[in-house]
Amino acid sequence: MKICESSEQLRAAVRAAKSQGQRVGFVPTMGALHEGHLSLVRAARQQCPFVVASVFVNPAQFGPNEDFAKYPRNLERDRQMLESEGVSLLFAPPVEEMYPAGANTFVTVEGLSDKLCGRSRPGHFRGVTTVVSKLFHIVEPDLAFFGQKDAAQAAIIRRMVRDLKFPTEIVVCPIVREADGLAMSSRNAYLDPAQRKQALVLFRALARLQTLVDQGEADSRNLIAAAKSVLADEREVRLDYVEVVNPESLEPVADVSKGALVAVAAFVGNTRLIDNLLLTGVGKAKKLG
Ligand code: PAJ
Repeated sequence: MKICESSEQLRAAVRAAKSQGQRVGFVPTMGALHEGHLSLVRAARQQCPFVVASVFVNPAQFGPNEDFAKYPRNLERDRQMLESEGVSLLFAPPVEEMYPAGANTFVTVEGLSDKLCGRSRPGHFRGVTTVVSKLFHIVEPDLAFFGQKDAAQAAIIRRMVRDLKFPTEIVVCPIVREADGLAMSSRNAYLDPAQRKQALVLFRALARLQTLVDQGEADSRNLIAAAKSVLADEREVRLDYVEVVNPESLEPVADVSKGALVAVAAFVGNTRLIDNLLLTGVGKAKKLG
């Protein structure tokens, strides 16, 4: 597996593969890789002979009081994991490569970027769409793979790709969970053993909601109330939001019988965790994960 730090190097290597007729798949990440990330790599490998992964902790998507400085970084470990999954090329640029001095161009998906996590993390999605559009211009992938774990991010990227006519197909892969149900996240590493147990309440709240939907409950007010009451049982967990929205527009949905996205975000100590459940229609919740 080749590692590139510069856009020119990366572009040359990808174009060489494309000139041999190889389809290029791309998995953008911030590193601290886990099975969730690797599931995207495996999906990419299934569809594309040439897979590019990026590891870049993107400063533009962190707020001033967020965890940019302490975000876990271990490039050597990430490199080994990606290599053993058969990734062709790792792009690991320094910050100056992605944001040279004076970089002042941003991409914003208006109307979506201030929803869900965008409301609690102003500027977050602007940072995501800016870096992903730069990465797409550098890699020029045929397919790019994202996780349903970040459901709002996936919706926003899809809209950006459509609006800006990127020639890239977006593939969204299911949430990968720990054995007990906790959604995998690089931020789970911040949790101490007590918090790790408390964090499970997000999954419990979604599981409760799934049961209610399976029993025919379709009123999102009742579903939100039920989820909140489960979350309230865990005193140390501070709810940020639980919302029932349309998975594309991220606008609130009152009746889930035609499907909806249930998204939850909560603080466990100082660690902000998110999880979600995609409801597919009358009485049918997609199996969690
Ligand atoms: P990061 O949090 O590293 O996640 C990279 C990709 O892995 C995202 O598409 C995310 O949805 C997916 N992912 C994370 N946990 C997952 C899980 N448990 N199951 C399935 N997929 C999972 O998301 C980002 O980085 C950044 O915002 C990025 C898109 C790289 C832009 O900087």
